[in-house]
Amino acid sequence: MTRLVNAEKENLASAAEIINNGGLVAFPTETVYGLGADGLNENAVKKIYEAKGRPSDNPLILHIQDKSEVIPLTLKINSTAQKLMDTFWPGPMTLVFKKSSLVPPVISGGLDTVAIRLPENEIARELIKLAKTPIAAPSANTSGKPSPTKASHVFEDLNGRIDMIIDGGSCDIGLESTVIDVTTLSPVILRPGGVTFEDIYKLFPDVSYDKHLTLDTITDTVKPRSPGMKYKHYAPEGELFILDGDIEKVQKYILENSDENTAVFTYDGIEFDLPYVRSLGNSNSGSKLFFDLLRECDNNSITKIFALMPDKKGVGFALYNRMFKAAGGKIIKL
Ligand code: TXA
Ligand code: MG
Repeated sequence: MTRLVNAEKENLASAAEIINNGGLVAFPTETVYGLGADGLNENAVKKIYEAKGRPSDNPLILHIQDKSEVIPLTLKINSTAQKLMDTFWPGPMTLVFKKSSLVPPVISGGLDTVAIRLPENEIARELIKLAKTPIAAPSANTSGKPSPTKASHVFEDLNGRIDMIIDGGSCDIGLESTVIDVTTLSPVILRPGGVTFEDIYKLFPDVSYDKHLTLDTITDTVKPRSPGMKYKHYAPEGELFILDGDIEKVQKYILENSDENTAVFTYDGIEFDLPYVRSLGNSNSGSKLFFDLLRECDNNSITKIFALMPDKKGVGFALYNRMFKAAGGKIIKL
């Protein structure tokens, strides 16, 4: 049985107890809901992979609530890492360090590195504090499904497979954290998120994207350094197409190619006279609604989704990255 509870103090205390006893608790963060276990307990971490149906070579993020907790988990905090930690933590940023022997191999999927994040969400931080251990947590969805941005999404996917879900409402950002490799002095972005390229560029003009992120096609020839980026992700049941080009042509194409089971993902101010139209928000920001809308389409027998290309600047690039994956790389250029 999975207990679905609110974030009252006594519920957080029992959640911490579950973690300390080797169980699984889903909890809110400002990015997406995480599926947490004691990050230093190998058997507990194994349960995460089982509950999600996650491939075991895809490493997990350790969540901490104070910067000092990085020290025992890593071999070295270089000046780049330190500056990023001081600027963007707590927040939607995960750093990849060389790992210490304290980190169990099951966390790092056989790599010699470990990913660490200090979230901003108060419920997440309180839970980590009470559990007195780094909490390993991937997104709390079934592997391959959109990441959960509401407790109900977690319930849909994992009811009966985990011990507890803490409901903390909708996630503010709704896209997973920016993952940055800081094992060298020049930071490399492995996954785009709420902390943007532009934010990091102000501190480190030598910041770069891992090569696979700048390709416009899905290919096997460039192997992502973040193992999770190679798996099919966020796939809705209907087919998703990204439409790119002149807005009048895009509108015409959509009107000509839609039927009653087609959804359109647009932005504020761009209207369509069709039955199933949803706005992702502002076209030059990220979208906290994207994953939620993918799930909504699945629940409403949508067979085709036309999504307008986001503005790829800032957090828009993270939205584009998730959309590209959900579309399996299908972009219609008009
Ligand atoms: O916002 C987030 O990051 C959420 C919340 C719960 O914190 N967590 C999350 O975890 O998205 P997950 O497991 O769904 O995604 C973690 C990503 C994967 O792409 C994984 O391959 C990558 O981080 N990663 C983890 N450890 C790594 C490592 N040592 N080296 C490179 N990439 C790593
Ligand atoms: Mg995930």
